[in-house]
Amino acid sequence: MSNGSTGSRNLHTSSTVGLAAVDNRPFNPTLFHRRTTQTEEEWEEWHRAKDASKVGSRVTAESMEPGAPSTISGPSGVTASVGGQENMKRLAKISRDFRSDTITMPTDAQLMAGLQASRGDDVYREDDATIALEQRIARLTGKEDAMFVISGTASNQIAIRTNLTQPPHSVLLDIRSHVHKWEAGGMAVFSQATAHAIAPANGKNLTLEDDILPNLELGEDVHIAPTRLISLENTLSGMVFPQHEIEKIAAVAEEHGIIMHLDGARIWETAAKVCEQDGKNGEDGLQEVMTNLCRPFKSVSLCMSKGLGAPIGSVLVGPKDFIARARWFKKMFGGGIRQSGGIATAADWALTNTFPKLAHTHRLAQKLSSGILALGGRLLVPTETNMVWLDLSSLNIRAPEMIKRGREMFPENPLTVGGARFVVHHQIEEKAIDDVLALLETFKQDMVREGMVSQDAGVSEINEERPQETLSRPFPKLGY
Ligand SMILES: Cc1ncc(COP(=O)(O)O)c(C=O)c1O
Repeated sequence: MSNGSTGSRNLHTSSTVGLAAVDNRPFNPTLFHRRTTQTEEEWEEWHRAKDASKVGSRVTAESMEPGAPSTISGPSGVTASVGGQENMKRLAKISRDFRSDTITMPTDAQLMAGLQASRGDDVYREDDATIALEQRIARLTGKEDAMFVISGTASNQIAIRTNLTQPPHSVLLDIRSHVHKWEAGGMAVFSQATAHAIAPANGKNLTLEDDILPNLELGEDVHIAPTRLISLENTLSGMVFPQHEIEKIAAVAEEHGIIMHLDGARIWETAAKVCEQDGKNGEDGLQEVMTNLCRPFKSVSLCMSKGLGAPIGSVLVGPKDFIARARWFKKMFGGGIRQSGGIATAADWALTNTFPKLAHTHRLAQKLSSGILALGGRLLVPTETNMVWLDLSSLNIRAPEMIKRGREMFPENPLTVGGARFVVHHQIEEKAIDDVLALLETFKQDMVREGMVSQDAGVSEINEERPQETLSRPFPKLGY
Protein backbone atom coordinates (compact mmCIF):
# COMPACT_ATOMS: atom_id res chain seq x y z
CA MET A 1 0.00 0.00 0.00
CA SER A 2 1.26 3.45 -0.78
CA ASN A 3 -0.14 6.83 -0.04
CA GLY A 4 0.78 8.40 -3.32
CA SER A 5 3.85 10.50 -3.99
CA THR A 6 6.25 9.44 -6.73
CA GLY A 7 7.01 6.16 -8.41
CA SER A 8 10.12 4.06 -8.16
CA ARG A 9 13.57 5.38 -7.56
CA ASN A 10 16.97 3.86 -7.28
CA LEU A 11 18.25 4.09 -3.73
CA HIS A 12 21.81 4.20 -4.99
CA THR A 13 21.30 7.12 -7.28
CA SER A 14 19.51 9.70 -5.27
CA SER A 15 16.32 11.07 -3.91
CA THR A 16 14.28 12.58 -6.66
CA VAL A 17 11.45 13.33 -4.26
CA GLY A 18 13.58 14.90 -1.58
CA LEU A 19 15.96 16.68 -3.83
CA ALA A 20 13.93 17.67 -6.85
CA ALA A 21 12.10 19.92 -4.45
CA VAL A 22 15.39 21.42 -3.44
CA ASP A 23 17.07 22.76 -6.52
CA ASN A 24 16.67 22.09 -10.20
CA ARG A 25 19.30 24.50 -11.39
CA PRO A 26 22.09 23.16 -13.64
CA PHE A 27 25.39 22.26 -12.07
CA ASN A 28 27.38 25.33 -11.10
CA PRO A 29 30.64 24.32 -9.44
CA THR A 30 31.61 27.77 -8.33
CA LEU A 31 28.29 28.18 -6.60
CA PHE A 32 27.67 24.85 -4.92
CA HIS A 33 30.47 22.43 -5.90
CA ARG A 34 28.12 19.64 -6.87
CA ARG A 35 24.65 18.74 -8.00
CA THR A 36 22.60 17.14 -5.34
CA THR A 37 21.67 14.38 -7.75
CA GLN A 38 25.22 13.06 -7.70
CA THR A 39 25.93 9.93 -5.71
CA GLU A 40 28.65 9.99 -3.10
CA GLU A 41 30.97 8.12 -5.47
CA GLU A 42 30.38 10.62 -8.27
CA TRP A 43 30.95 13.44 -5.85
CA GLU A 44 34.23 12.00 -4.69
CA GLU A 45 35.34 11.35 -8.23
CA TRP A 46 34.52 14.93 -9.16
CA HIS A 47 36.31 16.15 -6.09
CA ARG A 48 39.45 14.15 -6.81
CA ALA A 49 39.55 15.58 -10.31
CA LYS A 50 39.03 19.06 -8.94
CA ASP A 51 41.78 18.68 -6.34
CA ALA A 52 44.13 17.30 -8.99
CA SER A 53 43.59 20.23 -11.31
CA LYS A 54 43.13 22.72 -8.49
CA VAL A 55 40.23 24.19 -10.43
CA GLY A 56 37.97 25.91 -7.98
CA SER A 57 39.91 24.42 -5.08
CA ARG A 58 39.14 25.94 -1.74
CA VAL A 59 42.13 24.82 0.34
CA THR A 60 42.40 27.26 3.21
CA ALA A 61 44.66 27.79 6.19
CA GLU A 62 41.95 26.31 8.43
CA SER A 63 41.38 23.24 6.31
CA MET A 64 44.97 22.34 5.41
CA GLU A 65 47.85 22.43 7.87
CA PRO A 66 51.25 23.27 6.36
CA GLY A 67 52.94 20.10 5.22
CA ALA A 68 49.95 17.93 6.03
CA PRO A 69 49.21 15.06 3.68
CA SER A 70 46.37 15.75 1.31
CA THR A 71 44.75 12.46 2.24
CA ILE A 72 44.56 10.47 5.44
CA SER A 73 44.06 6.75 5.25
CA GLY A 74 40.66 5.64 6.41
CA PRO A 75 37.16 5.78 5.05
CA SER A 76 36.33 8.30 2.38
CA GLY A 77 33.67 10.95 2.52
CA VAL A 78 35.53 13.95 3.90
CA THR A 79 38.10 15.85 1.89
CA ALA A 80 40.69 18.33 3.04
CA SER A 81 39.41 21.09 0.83
CA VAL A 82 35.81 20.88 2.04
CA GLY A 83 35.76 19.21 5.44
CA GLY A 84 39.26 20.14 6.51
CA GLN A 85 42.09 18.08 7.95
CA GLU A 86 40.63 17.89 11.43
CA ASN A 87 37.46 16.29 10.16
CA MET A 88 39.44 13.89 7.99
CA LYS A 89 41.32 12.83 11.11
CA ARG A 90 38.10 12.59 13.04
CA LEU A 91 36.59 10.36 10.38
CA ALA A 92 39.64 8.09 10.49
CA LYS A 93 39.16 7.85 14.26
CA ILE A 94 35.46 7.11 13.91
CA SER A 95 36.28 4.28 11.53
CA ARG A 96 37.64 2.49 14.62
CA ASP A 97 35.01 3.62 17.11
CA PHE A 98 32.51 0.93 18.18
CA ARG A 99 30.58 2.81 20.84
CA SER A 100 27.50 3.63 18.78
CA ASP A 101 26.08 4.13 15.31
CA THR A 102 25.17 7.67 16.32
CA ILE A 103 28.78 8.81 16.10
CA THR A 104 29.06 8.59 12.32
CA MET A 105 30.13 11.74 10.53
CA PRO A 106 28.19 13.50 7.81
CA THR A 107 30.18 13.48 4.59
CA ASP A 108 31.02 16.44 2.38
CA ALA A 109 28.48 15.31 -0.18
CA GLN A 110 25.79 14.99 2.45
CA LEU A 111 26.34 18.44 3.88
CA MET A 112 26.62 19.94 0.41
CA ALA A 113 23.23 18.46 -0.39
CA GLY A 114 21.93 20.19 2.73
CA LEU A 115 23.49 23.43 1.60
CA GLN A 116 21.37 23.36 -1.53
CA ALA A 117 18.16 22.53 0.25
CA SER A 118 15.12 24.77 0.41
CA ARG A 119 15.17 27.22 3.30
CA GLY A 120 11.51 27.71 4.12
CA ASP A 121 10.00 27.85 7.61
CA ASP A 122 8.74 24.41 8.59
CA VAL A 123 6.58 25.69 11.44
CA TYR A 124 4.67 27.55 8.72
CA ARG A 125 4.85 24.29 6.68
CA GLU A 126 6.70 26.18 3.97
CA ASP A 127 9.81 24.08 3.62
CA ASP A 128 9.71 21.93 0.50
CA ALA A 129 12.60 19.64 1.42
CA THR A 130 11.13 18.80 4.83
CA ILE A 131 7.74 18.06 3.30
CA ALA A 132 9.40 15.96 0.59
CA LEU A 133 11.26 13.89 3.19
CA GLU A 134 8.06 13.39 5.18
CA GLN A 135 6.24 12.27 2.04
CA ARG A 136 9.01 9.89 1.14
CA ILE A 137 8.98 8.23 4.57
CA ALA A 138 5.17 8.10 4.67
CA ARG A 139 5.17 6.40 1.27
CA LEU A 140 7.92 3.95 2.24
CA THR A 141 6.15 2.94 5.45
CA GLY A 142 2.68 2.76 3.91
CA LYS A 143 1.34 5.36 6.33
CA GLU A 144 -0.83 8.35 5.54
CA ASP A 145 1.41 11.05 6.91
CA ALA A 146 4.75 11.79 8.55
CA MET A 147 6.40 14.45 10.68
CA PHE A 148 10.09 15.31 10.84
CA VAL A 149 11.35 15.84 14.40
CA ILE A 150 14.59 16.61 16.07
CA SER A 151 15.33 13.26 17.76
CA GLY A 152 14.14 9.73 18.43
CA THR A 153 13.25 10.66 21.98
CA ALA A 154 11.06 13.52 20.77
CA SER A 155 9.44 11.27 18.22
CA ASN A 156 8.62 8.50 20.73
CA GLN A 157 7.42 10.86 23.43
CA ILE A 158 5.23 12.85 21.06
CA ALA A 159 3.82 9.59 19.68
CA ILE A 160 2.98 8.23 23.12
CA ARG A 161 1.45 11.53 24.21
CA THR A 162 -0.62 11.76 21.04
CA ASN A 163 -1.80 8.16 21.27
CA LEU A 164 -2.88 8.42 24.90
CA THR A 165 -5.61 10.62 26.28
CA GLN A 166 -6.76 10.53 29.89
CA PRO A 167 -5.16 8.62 32.81
CA PRO A 168 -5.35 6.10 34.29
CA HIS A 169 -3.50 4.35 31.51
CA SER A 170 -0.50 2.12 31.15
CA VAL A 171 1.95 1.18 28.42
CA LEU A 172 3.03 -2.43 28.04
CA LEU A 173 6.63 -2.72 26.90
CA ASP A 174 9.92 -4.55 27.15
CA ILE A 175 11.82 -3.70 30.32
CA ARG A 176 14.89 -2.92 28.21
CA SER A 177 13.09 -0.64 25.78
CA HIS A 178 14.39 2.84 25.06
CA VAL A 179 11.07 4.58 25.72
CA HIS A 180 10.97 3.03 29.17
CA LYS A 181 14.54 3.16 30.35
CA TRP A 182 16.49 5.66 28.31
CA GLU A 183 14.19 8.62 27.77
CA ALA A 184 14.58 10.20 31.20
CA GLY A 185 11.19 9.03 32.40
CA GLY A 186 9.46 11.16 29.77
CA MET A 187 6.40 8.92 29.53
CA ALA A 188 5.45 9.65 33.14
CA VAL A 189 5.96 13.38 32.67
CA PHE A 190 4.43 14.03 29.26
CA SER A 191 1.76 11.33 29.19
CA GLN A 192 1.14 10.61 32.89
CA ALA A 193 1.44 6.97 31.94
CA THR A 194 2.53 4.01 34.02
CA ALA A 195 4.91 1.56 32.39
CA HIS A 196 4.18 -2.12 32.71
CA ALA A 197 7.66 -3.23 31.84
CA ILE A 198 8.18 -6.90 31.09
CA ALA A 199 11.36 -8.98 30.91
CA PRO A 200 10.66 -11.31 27.98
CA ALA A 201 10.50 -14.94 29.05
CA ASN A 202 12.67 -16.04 26.15
CA GLY A 203 15.26 -13.32 26.85
CA LYS A 204 14.98 -12.02 23.32
CA ASN A 205 11.63 -10.48 22.51
CA LEU A 206 8.17 -10.20 24.01
CA THR A 207 5.81 -12.95 22.91
CA LEU A 208 2.04 -12.96 22.97
CA GLU A 209 1.61 -16.09 25.07
CA ASP A 210 4.39 -15.69 27.61
CA ASP A 211 4.55 -11.92 28.06
CA ILE A 212 1.69 -9.95 26.58
CA LEU A 213 -1.38 -11.99 27.53
CA PRO A 214 -0.36 -12.52 31.18
CA ASN A 215 0.32 -8.79 31.58
CA LEU A 216 -2.49 -7.22 29.62
CA GLU A 217 -4.68 -5.08 31.87
CA LEU A 218 -8.13 -4.85 30.42
CA GLY A 219 -9.52 -2.28 32.79
CA GLU A 220 -11.66 -4.41 35.08
CA ASP A 221 -9.74 -3.79 38.30
CA VAL A 222 -9.79 -0.23 39.69
CA HIS A 223 -6.38 -0.79 41.30
CA ILE A 224 -4.62 -1.10 37.97
CA ALA A 225 -4.05 1.37 35.14
CA PRO A 226 -5.44 -0.33 32.03
CA THR A 227 -3.22 -1.11 29.04
CA ARG A 228 -3.93 1.48 26.37
CA LEU A 229 -0.74 1.16 24.38
CA ILE A 230 1.74 -1.59 23.53
CA SER A 231 5.10 -0.15 22.57
CA LEU A 232 7.57 -2.46 20.84
CA GLU A 233 11.13 -1.85 19.64
CA ASN A 234 12.72 -3.19 16.44
CA THR A 235 15.59 -3.77 16.46
CA LEU A 236 16.19 -3.97 20.20
CA SER A 237 19.87 -4.19 21.05
CA GLY A 238 20.40 -5.22 17.44
CA MET A 239 17.91 -8.08 17.62
CA VAL A 240 15.16 -8.34 15.04
CA PHE A 241 11.66 -8.67 16.47
CA PRO A 242 10.05 -11.64 14.66
CA GLN A 243 7.33 -10.19 12.46
CA HIS A 244 4.90 -13.09 12.96
CA GLU A 245 5.01 -12.45 16.71
CA ILE A 246 4.35 -8.74 16.20
CA GLU A 247 1.36 -9.62 14.03
CA LYS A 248 -0.03 -11.94 16.71
CA ILE A 249 0.35 -9.23 19.35
CA ALA A 250 -1.27 -6.64 17.07
CA ALA A 251 -4.28 -8.89 16.43
CA VAL A 252 -4.95 -9.24 20.16
CA ALA A 253 -4.33 -5.52 20.71
CA GLU A 254 -6.89 -4.69 18.07
CA GLU A 255 -9.44 -6.99 19.69
CA HIS A 256 -9.15 -4.94 22.87
CA GLY A 257 -8.82 -1.49 21.34
CA ILE A 258 -5.17 -1.22 22.42
CA ILE A 259 -2.93 0.99 20.27
CA MET A 260 0.35 -0.31 18.85
CA HIS A 261 3.43 1.95 18.66
CA LEU A 262 6.85 0.98 17.33
CA ASP A 263 10.12 2.54 18.36
CA GLY A 264 11.72 1.89 15.00
CA ALA A 265 14.86 3.87 15.68
CA ARG A 266 16.70 1.00 14.00
CA ILE A 267 13.92 -0.42 11.84
CA TRP A 268 16.20 0.36 8.88
CA GLU A 269 18.51 -2.39 10.13
CA THR A 270 15.65 -4.89 10.10
CA ALA A 271 14.62 -3.66 6.66
CA ALA A 272 18.17 -4.03 5.33
CA LYS A 273 18.27 -7.60 6.59
CA VAL A 274 14.89 -8.47 5.08
CA CYS A 275 15.79 -6.78 1.76
CA GLU A 276 18.99 -8.82 1.66
CA GLN A 277 17.24 -12.09 2.52
CA ASP A 278 14.32 -11.59 0.14
CA GLY A 279 16.30 -10.01 -2.70
CA LYS A 280 14.38 -6.71 -2.56
CA ASN A 281 16.08 -3.76 -4.18
CA GLY A 282 15.68 -0.06 -4.75
CA GLU A 283 13.03 2.27 -3.45
CA ASP A 284 10.16 -0.03 -4.44
CA GLY A 285 11.71 -3.05 -2.73
CA LEU A 286 12.33 -1.03 0.39
CA GLN A 287 8.78 0.29 0.32
CA GLU A 288 7.38 -3.23 0.20
CA VAL A 289 9.54 -4.37 3.10
CA MET A 290 9.03 -1.29 5.26
CA THR A 291 5.27 -1.26 4.67
CA ASN A 292 5.06 -4.86 5.90
CA LEU A 293 7.19 -4.14 8.94
CA CYS A 294 5.14 -1.08 9.90
CA ARG A 295 1.65 -2.39 9.05
CA PRO A 296 0.81 -3.76 12.55
CA PHE A 297 1.47 -0.38 14.15
CA LYS A 298 -0.60 2.77 14.26
CA SER A 299 2.49 4.91 14.81
CA VAL A 300 6.15 4.31 14.08
CA SER A 301 9.17 6.40 15.03
CA LEU A 302 12.15 6.06 12.66
CA CYS A 303 15.57 7.50 13.38
CA MET A 304 17.63 8.95 10.54
CA SER A 305 20.64 9.59 12.78
CA LYS A 306 21.52 6.01 13.86
CA GLY A 307 22.71 3.52 11.24
CA LEU A 308 21.68 5.76 8.36
CA GLY A 309 24.11 8.43 9.46
CA ALA A 310 22.08 11.64 9.30
CA PRO A 311 23.51 14.32 11.55
CA ILE A 312 20.13 14.84 13.16
CA GLY A 313 16.48 13.90 12.89
CA SER A 314 13.77 11.29 13.19
CA VAL A 315 10.45 10.85 11.45
CA LEU A 316 7.15 9.89 13.07
CA VAL A 317 4.57 8.25 10.80
CA GLY A 318 0.92 7.40 11.28
CA PRO A 319 -2.61 8.26 10.18
CA LYS A 320 -3.34 11.83 9.00
CA ASP A 321 -5.34 12.88 12.05
CA PHE A 322 -2.70 11.39 14.36
CA ILE A 323 0.10 13.36 12.70
CA ALA A 324 -2.01 16.52 12.70
CA ARG A 325 -2.43 16.20 16.45
CA ALA A 326 1.21 15.20 16.92
CA ARG A 327 2.17 18.55 15.34
CA TRP A 328 0.50 20.31 18.29
CA PHE A 329 2.60 18.35 20.76
CA LYS A 330 5.77 18.86 18.75
CA LYS A 331 5.20 22.60 19.01
CA MET A 332 4.15 22.41 22.67
CA PHE A 333 7.33 20.50 23.58
CA GLY A 334 9.41 23.21 21.91
CA GLY A 335 10.28 21.04 18.94
CA GLY A 336 9.21 23.30 16.09
CA ILE A 337 12.09 23.71 13.65
CA ARG A 338 12.21 26.76 11.44
CA GLN A 339 14.52 26.36 8.40
CA SER A 340 14.75 22.59 8.59
CA GLY A 341 15.45 21.97 4.88
CA GLY A 342 19.20 21.50 5.34
CA ILE A 343 18.90 18.84 7.99
CA ALA A 344 15.92 17.16 6.31
CA THR A 345 17.91 16.90 3.08
CA ALA A 346 20.96 15.53 4.88
CA ALA A 347 18.63 12.89 6.35
CA ASP A 348 17.06 12.17 2.96
CA TRP A 349 20.56 11.85 1.49
CA ALA A 350 21.48 9.42 4.27
CA LEU A 351 18.57 7.16 3.43
CA THR A 352 19.44 7.17 -0.26
CA ASN A 353 23.17 6.69 0.09
CA THR A 354 23.71 4.85 3.36
CA PHE A 355 20.82 2.41 3.50
CA PRO A 356 22.44 0.25 0.79
CA LYS A 357 25.55 -0.02 3.00
CA LEU A 358 23.77 -1.47 6.04
CA ALA A 359 23.90 -5.09 4.86
CA HIS A 360 27.69 -4.77 4.75
CA THR A 361 27.79 -3.56 8.37
CA HIS A 362 25.80 -6.66 9.30
CA ARG A 363 28.40 -8.86 7.61
CA LEU A 364 31.15 -7.13 9.55
CA ALA A 365 29.21 -7.62 12.79
CA GLN A 366 28.90 -11.32 11.95
CA LYS A 367 32.63 -11.50 11.37
CA LEU A 368 33.20 -9.97 14.79
CA SER A 369 30.79 -12.26 16.60
CA SER A 370 32.15 -15.37 14.85
CA GLY A 371 35.65 -14.31 15.86
CA ILE A 372 34.53 -13.89 19.47
CA LEU A 373 32.98 -17.36 19.53
CA ALA A 374 36.11 -18.83 17.97
CA LEU A 375 38.13 -17.30 20.80
CA GLY A 376 35.86 -19.02 23.30
CA GLY A 377 34.01 -15.84 24.17
CA ARG A 378 30.27 -15.71 24.64
CA LEU A 379 27.61 -13.38 23.34
CA LEU A 380 24.95 -11.88 25.56
CA VAL A 381 22.42 -11.96 22.74
CA PRO A 382 22.55 -13.23 19.16
CA THR A 383 24.10 -10.96 16.55
CA GLU A 384 21.35 -10.30 14.04
CA THR A 385 22.15 -6.88 12.59
CA ASN A 386 24.83 -4.32 13.44
CA MET A 387 25.41 -4.92 17.15
CA VAL A 388 27.59 -7.45 18.90
CA TRP A 389 27.10 -7.93 22.63
CA LEU A 390 30.06 -9.59 24.29
CA ASP A 391 29.70 -11.28 27.65
CA LEU A 392 32.83 -9.67 29.07
CA SER A 393 33.05 -12.24 31.87
CA SER A 394 33.48 -15.04 29.33
CA LEU A 395 36.92 -13.67 28.47
CA ASN A 396 37.54 -12.40 31.98
CA ILE A 397 37.46 -8.81 30.77
CA ARG A 398 36.93 -5.71 32.85
CA ALA A 399 35.66 -2.92 30.64
CA PRO A 400 38.08 -0.17 31.80
CA GLU A 401 41.04 -2.42 31.07
CA MET A 402 39.69 -3.29 27.61
CA ILE A 403 39.13 0.39 26.83
CA LYS A 404 42.69 1.20 27.94
CA ARG A 405 44.26 -1.64 25.96
CA GLY A 406 42.29 -0.59 22.88
CA ARG A 407 44.04 2.76 23.04
CA GLU A 408 47.49 1.44 23.95
CA MET A 409 47.72 -1.48 21.54
CA PHE A 410 47.23 0.80 18.56
CA PRO A 411 48.85 4.11 19.49
CA GLU A 412 48.74 5.40 15.90
CA ASN A 413 45.12 4.38 15.32
CA PRO A 414 43.50 3.78 18.69
CA LEU A 415 40.44 1.57 18.94
CA THR A 416 37.53 3.12 20.78
CA VAL A 417 35.33 0.57 22.50
CA GLY A 418 32.64 1.22 25.06
CA GLY A 419 32.04 -1.99 26.98
CA ALA A 420 29.94 -5.06 26.22
CA ARG A 421 28.28 -3.47 23.20
CA PHE A 422 30.13 -3.21 19.88
CA VAL A 423 28.22 -1.33 17.23
CA VAL A 424 29.32 -1.67 13.62
CA HIS A 425 28.37 1.46 11.70
CA HIS A 426 28.81 2.27 8.03
CA GLN A 427 32.07 4.11 8.55
CA ILE A 428 33.77 1.24 10.42
CA GLU A 429 36.56 -0.23 8.33
CA GLU A 430 37.14 -3.98 8.19
CA LYS A 431 40.65 -3.70 9.60
CA ALA A 432 39.14 -2.37 12.83
CA ILE A 433 37.18 -5.63 13.24
CA ASP A 434 40.43 -7.59 12.97
CA ASP A 435 42.02 -5.28 15.52
CA VAL A 436 39.15 -5.70 18.00
CA LEU A 437 39.60 -9.46 17.73
CA ALA A 438 43.34 -9.03 18.32
CA LEU A 439 42.51 -6.94 21.39
CA LEU A 440 40.13 -9.60 22.76
CA GLU A 441 42.71 -12.29 22.02
CA THR A 442 45.03 -10.64 24.57
CA PHE A 443 42.47 -11.34 27.29
CA LYS A 444 42.17 -14.92 26.17
CA GLN A 445 45.97 -15.21 26.39
CA ASP A 446 45.84 -13.80 29.93
CA MET A 447 43.38 -16.55 30.82
CA VAL A 448 45.62 -19.19 29.27
CA ARG A 449 48.64 -17.86 31.17
CA GLU A 450 46.71 -17.93 34.41
CA GLY A 451 45.58 -21.50 33.72
CA MET A 452 41.91 -20.51 33.52
CA VAL A 453 41.43 -22.09 30.09
CA SER A 454 43.47 -24.06 27.63
CA GLN A 455 44.93 -22.45 24.54
CA ASP A 456 42.46 -24.19 22.27
CA ALA A 457 39.42 -23.34 24.39
CA GLY A 458 36.74 -22.70 21.85
CA VAL A 459 33.03 -22.61 21.40
CA SER A 460 32.34 -26.04 22.81
CA GLU A 461 34.48 -25.65 25.92
CA ILE A 462 33.22 -22.29 27.08
CA ASN A 463 29.89 -21.92 25.43
CA GLU A 464 28.17 -25.23 25.88
CA GLU A 465 25.58 -24.01 28.38
CA ARG A 466 24.42 -21.28 26.02
CA PRO A 467 22.29 -19.72 24.71
CA GLN A 468 19.41 -19.81 27.18
CA GLU A 469 21.34 -18.93 30.29
CA THR A 470 23.15 -16.10 28.46
CA LEU A 471 19.97 -14.67 27.07
CA SER A 472 18.01 -14.49 30.27
CA ARG A 473 20.69 -13.08 32.56
CA PRO A 474 21.91 -9.77 31.29
CA PHE A 475 18.82 -7.56 31.08
CA PRO A 476 20.24 -4.59 32.93
CA LYS A 477 23.14 -4.27 30.52
CA LEU A 478 21.13 -4.13 27.32
CA GLY A 479 18.80 -1.79 25.65
CA TYR A 480 20.21 1.54 24.52
C1 LIG B 1 16.04 2.29 20.28
C2 LIG B 1 16.19 3.77 20.42
N1 LIG B 1 15.10 4.54 20.40
C3 LIG B 1 15.16 5.87 20.52
C4 LIG B 1 16.37 6.51 20.67
C5 LIG B 1 16.39 7.99 20.88
O1 LIG B 1 17.02 8.67 19.87
P1 LIG B 1 17.67 10.11 20.12
O2 LIG B 1 19.01 9.87 20.72
O3 LIG B 1 17.71 10.71 18.75
O4 LIG B 1 16.76 10.86 21.04
C6 LIG B 1 17.54 5.75 20.71
C7 LIG B 1 18.85 6.41 20.87
O5 LIG B 1 19.87 5.81 21.02
C8 LIG B 1 17.44 4.36 20.57
O6 LIG B 1 18.53 3.57 20.62
